[in-house]
Amino acid sequence: MNNIAYLNGQWSPLEETKVNVLDRGFLFGDGIYEVIPVHHSKPIALEAHIERLQSGLSAIGIDTDKALLSIRTIIAEIIEKNTSEDCPYQGLYIQITRGADIKRHHSFPQNIAPTQFAFMFEMASPPVQDRTLVKGLEVGVEQDLRWRRCHIKSTSLLGNVLHFQEGADGGYSETILYNGNNEVTEASACNVFVVVNGVVLTAPLDNQLLPGITRQLVIKAIQEHTDIQVEEQFFDLETLYSADEVWLTSSTKEIAPVTRVNGRVIADGKAGEIWERAIIALSKIKYD
Ligand code: PDD
Repeated sequence: MNNIAYLNGQWSPLEETKVNVLDRGFLFGDGIYEVIPVHHSKPIALEAHIERLQSGLSAIGIDTDKALLSIRTIIAEIIEKNTSEDCPYQGLYIQITRGADIKRHHSFPQNIAPTQFAFMFEMASPPVQDRTLVKGLEVGVEQDLRWRRCHIKSTSLLGNVLHFQEGADGGYSETILYNGNNEVTEASACNVFVVVNGVVLTAPLDNQLLPGITRQLVIKAIQEHTDIQVEEQFFDLETLYSADEVWLTSSTKEIAPVTRVNGRVIADGKAGEIWERAIIALSKIKYD
């Protein structure tokens, strides 16, 4: 992979790309980001990702016309510059910050141009669509200690990073989070689904979780390509532990089966039958 990055109109190798230290993204985490899967040079669900970027920018008061200026051209060019046959599965990272001021001050500066930054990275190939060949993840569980604006895909990710690392320190590959009512909201970098009595459940969208694009695609895929029922409703920790299946979804993981939560084995400890039907359904719609 070539690793050519974009920063404010300039193209350069990623490791040589440097940001102004007065950029509010660097000083305050004052920005919005996206991670878009790119399969064989084609971005997956591009419009949905741009829409979420736009609503995140609006939510934090960044002028979307300036921030998203030429965004589709930048995306097309970065994919072209980084395309390589030996790397068919890539991720595209886009970060837009409020921009660089001439001093550090909490209030929003007036009339500064937003910073546009993008690079691409290599991603694992999507999981095989066979439950007997897929290894499930082992994840931890913690009370969600992040802020109350988790619906905004902010670059201020310290809360998520600390939750992820707590799980990693325990030998887990993710950390599922629950709120003060013992309801599962999401994980530190994924959305969470469970299967209970043949019904697929995931938390409804509110400020406690990110409106994941994969979450949205998975719901659509199941509704359009299977007869399985999907409900957007909160479920508690007991339901999580006793579920027939647990999945994590994200742009980098697609749908990943979870077979152990906090050391407790989920059902028979294997990827489930409904997971397999969901991953097949997802592959049918992700190129729409
Ligand atoms: N993470 N919830 C959180 C907190 C996330 O950070 C993510 C994605 C998701 C899933 O969203 P999507 O399906 O749109 O990828 C849910 C990305 C991949 C990241 O931060 O790298």
